[in-house]
Amino acid sequence: MAVTVPDILDMKRRGERFAMLTAYDYTTASLLAEAGIPILLVGDSLANTMLGYPTTLPVTMAEMLHHARAVARGAPGQLLVGDLPFNSYHASDEEAIRNAARMLQAGMHAVKLEGGGRIAELVGTLTARGIPVMGHLGLTPQSVHLFGGFRVQGREAAAAERIAADARALQESGAFAVVLEGVPRALAASITHRLDIPTIGIGAGPDCDGQVLTVTDMLGLTRGHVAKFVKAYAALGDEAIAAARRFAAEVASGAYPDDAHSYH
Ligand code: KIV
Repeated sequence: MAVTVPDILDMKRRGERFAMLTAYDYTTASLLAEAGIPILLVGDSLANTMLGYPTTLPVTMAEMLHHARAVARGAPGQLLVGDLPFNSYHASDEEAIRNAARMLQAGMHAVKLEGGGRIAELVGTLTARGIPVMGHLGLTPQSVHLFGGFRVQGREAAAAERIAADARALQESGAFAVVLEGVPRALAASITHRLDIPTIGIGAGPDCDGQVLTVTDMLGLTRGHVAKFVKAYAALGDEAIAAARRFAAEVASGAYPDDAHSYH
C-alpha cells in the first residue's frame, strides 16, 4: 500500500514515530523501500553528497529533477518529497508553482521549501493547487551565508520564539509536516507538542514526531567530518574501500576472474 500525506498526519494523531531518509538514486531508493522507510526525501543535500559541492546552493532544478525521476522509479510506493533548490522559488510565486509542479511531474508527491513566515503565503498557494508542502526551519542550509556557517539556530529566546512562530505559520498555511534542523532539543519538543502536523527532526533531539538523516550519513558512507547528531548504522564507506582493494588485488594476481566466473 502506498504511503500518503494523510497517512503521515494519522501517524502524528496516533503518536507513532516515523523515519525519513534521503534518497538520490534508483538502487538506493529501492533498498530503502524494501526496508519500509515511509518517506524518502530527494534532498538538495545531493549537492554535497552526490555532486561534491561545499553547500547546497549550486544545485539546479534540472539536477534535482534528474535524481527525483530515478528515485520515483525505485520507490513509487513510498511518500516521495522533492526539495525545491535554492533560486527555484525565490523570484516569484509563478516560478515557484511551475517548479513545484515539475517536481510532481517527475514522480514526487510533495515538495519541501526552506523558510517560515516569509514563505507562508506561497505554501498556501501551492497547497491550494494540490501540491503538498513540507516546511523546513532552523538551520536551513540554503541560508548558510546569512547564518555565517552551519550553526545551531534558536538558542536565544527571541530566535526560538521566531522559529516557533514560523512553525505555526507553516501549519496555518497548509504545510503537512515541518523539518526542524539544528535547533535545541527543548525548542523542538515544545514546537512538536504545540503543532497538529508532524515535526521531523535532524539535529533537533529525540522529541520530534519523525527523524531524518541523509542516507549517506546513516550508512556510514560519509568520509571526513560528520555532525554531532549523526549516527551511522553501518560502515559501508570502509566496506566499499576494502572491497575495491580486494578486487584490485585479485585482478593483479590473476585470481579474478576464475573459471567459475567465465563463459564456456
Ligand atoms: O536536503 C536534505 O537532505 C534535507 C534534510 C537533511 C532534511 O533537507
